[in-house]
Amino acid sequence: MGVPADAIRRVSICLYEGEINMVIHANGGDIDVLVYPDRIEMILKDTGKGIANIEQAMQAGWSTATEKVHSLGFGAGMGLPNMKTNSDEMKIDSTVGVGTTVYMTVKF
Ligand SMILES: Nc1ncnc2c1ncn2[C@@H]1O[C@H](COP(=O)(O)OP(=O)(O)OP(=O)(O)O)[C@@H](O)[C@H]1O
Ligand SMILES: [Mg+2]
Repeated sequence: MGVPADAIRRVSICLYEGEINMVIHANGGDIDVLVYPDRIEMILKDTGKGIANIEQAMQAGWSTATEKVHSLGFGAGMGLPNMKTNSDEMKIDSTVGVGTTVYMTVKF
C-alpha cells in the first residue's frame, strides 16, 4: 500500500503496546486500524477496569502490573510512553469500571 517502513515500525509498536495493555490490564478488546493516503489511525477499545489517573499512567515507569504480569516480562510502565513517542497524536478516554479507548495517529 506504499506505507513507508518507518511508519509501519511506529504503528507496530503502538499496536503491540496497546494490545498487550488490553490483555493484561483489561479483558481484551477491539482494534480498528484505518489506513489513509497520508496517515494510519488506530482505535483500541476495551471494557476493562479503566484508568483512574491518565496523567499518572502516562508517566514512564508507573505500573499497576501484578507479580504474575511481571513474571511474564511485562509491567515496566513503558507501554503508554512508547505509544506516545511513536505516534503523532494520542488521546485516551477512560472511565473507571466502564473501559478505555485509546486513539493514535501515525502520519507519513
Ligand atoms: N487498557 C487499559 N485498561 C486499564 N488500565 C490500563 C490500560 N492500559 C494501561 N493501563 C494502566 O496504565 C498503567 C501504565 O501502562 P503502561 O503500558 O505504560 O505500563 P505497563 O503495561 O504497566 O507495563 P509495560 O507496558 O511496560 O509492560 C498500567 O500499569 C495500568 O495501570
Ligand atoms: Mg503496557
